[in-house]
Order: sequence, then C-alpha cells, then structure tokens
Amino acid sequence: MKLKSLYRYSLALAVIVIAAFSCTRDPNNPGKQFAPNMYLPVGYEPYRQEKANPINPMGLTMRLPVEGTVARRNYNTSFGNGDSAKVDLMVYNIPADSISIAERVLKNPVPLNEKSLAEGKVLFERYCQHCHGATGAGDGKVGAVYKGVPNYASDAYKNLNEGHIFHVITYGKARMWPHGSQINPEERWKIVHYVQKLQKGA
Ligand code: HEC
Repeated sequence: MKLKSLYRYSLALAVIVIAAFSCTRDPNNPGKQFAPNMYLPVGYEPYRQEKANPINPMGLTMRLPVEGTVARRNYNTSFGNGDSAKVDLMVYNIPADSISIAERVLKNPVPLNEKSLAEGKVLFERYCQHCHGATGAGDGKVGAVYKGVPNYASDAYKNLNEGHIFHVITYGKARMWPHGSQINPEERWKIVHYVQKLQKGA
C-alpha cells in the first residue's frame, strides 16, 4: 500500500470513529448545543420546564391560582322585575346529549324587554348572523358557503323553545358548532330572546 492511500484510509477511519462516539447514550443529555438560550427558555414557562424551579414547592413552575383570584362574575345577579335568576347562571350542568331535559326545565332568567332584546340583537349580529342571516332565514354570507343553515321561521324550527335554543348555543348540534366557550350564559339568554323574535318572522 502506498503511503498516500494509507493516509486516506486512516482519515476515513478517524471520521467513522468520531461519528460513532460523538453521540451519547444518555437520553437526557442533549449533547453539544449551539447557543442553548435560543431554544431553552430563560423565563419561567408553565408548559416547558427544563430545571427544577427554585422557589415553588416541588420544583414546579406551573401552579394553581390562589383560590378566589380568577375573575368570575357573580351570576346570582338580579335582572330587575320579573327576575327568575335564583340560581347561579354560570353553572350549567345539563349534559350535551340531554337536550330534552334542557327543553323541559330551562326558563330564560333574563326578562324580555327592549334593552335585553337590543343586546341580544347585537350579540346575534356578532356571533350568529354570518351563518343564520340578519332575519334568521339561514342566508348569511358564511351560511351560503357552509350550507345547511336552517330558517328559524320555517315550520320545523319556529317552535323550538328557549331551553332548546340555549342548549344548542352552548353545545352546538349536528353541523352547528358549540359557542359555550365564547358566549357567557347571560349573553346566551339574551341571544335566545332575539332568536325567538326571529322565529316569529321579523
Ligand atoms: C358556522 C355557521 C353557524 C354559526 C356561526 C351559528 N350557527 Fe346555528 N346552525 C348552523 C347550522 C349549519 C345549523 C343546522 C344544524 C344541523 O341540524 O345540522 C344550525 C342550527 C341552529 C339552530 C337549530 C338547532 C336545531 O335544533 O336543529 C339554532 C337554534 C341555532 N343554530 C342558533 C344559533 C345561534 C343562536 C348562533 C349564534 C350564537 C348560531 N346558531 C351560530 C350554523 C351556524
């Protein structure tokens, strides 16, 4: 073997040996990192924790908020004359598959008057109109593309009662998506008033 090719072979061997030993077996060892601050957060991040947190118990960064500190409106509020809100409206625990219970037991706690209806209209325009249309005829711009949006005033829909509508807004139904996480219960009930107006054919 010539000296030159021996030199080439030993160089190739050296590359293989370095490659084989440069990865470590320890899965917790990231090996050599270039600029680790780029991908290991310096600030505390609840969902991504590299080291034990020195301040919090058990070294965890993510903690539950102190009881009573998450803002939550008191839904035992009075809506004025004709008020039926004797229970906390924030608690709605009729399960999604039990719409018939909602139909039977729910009553709109928000009194129907010009103010609540006007607020319901604004909320309807914000959350529903793009599908259901300004008059509830199912002819909103998004509805035209989404398809299958019913007319509230048609025979099959004009008699849906308040509990049914509240439940549908909360959990959705078939092709209609749930809105419970975006619209709070008081707002849902105001929308119900407005939908019931549209059912009569506005
Ligand atoms: C993305 C479009 C879309 C939006 C937004 C939307 N809906 Fe619907 N909605 C539908 C469709 C589609 C149906 C028909 C559901 C089915 O039977 O498949 C429907 C059905 C309904 C029904 C009849 C449910 C039943 O029992 O058959 C009610 C009531 C209703 N929507 C109210 C609302 C209200 C109130 C809002 C606003 C908070 C809203 N929808 C927002 C698409 C939408």
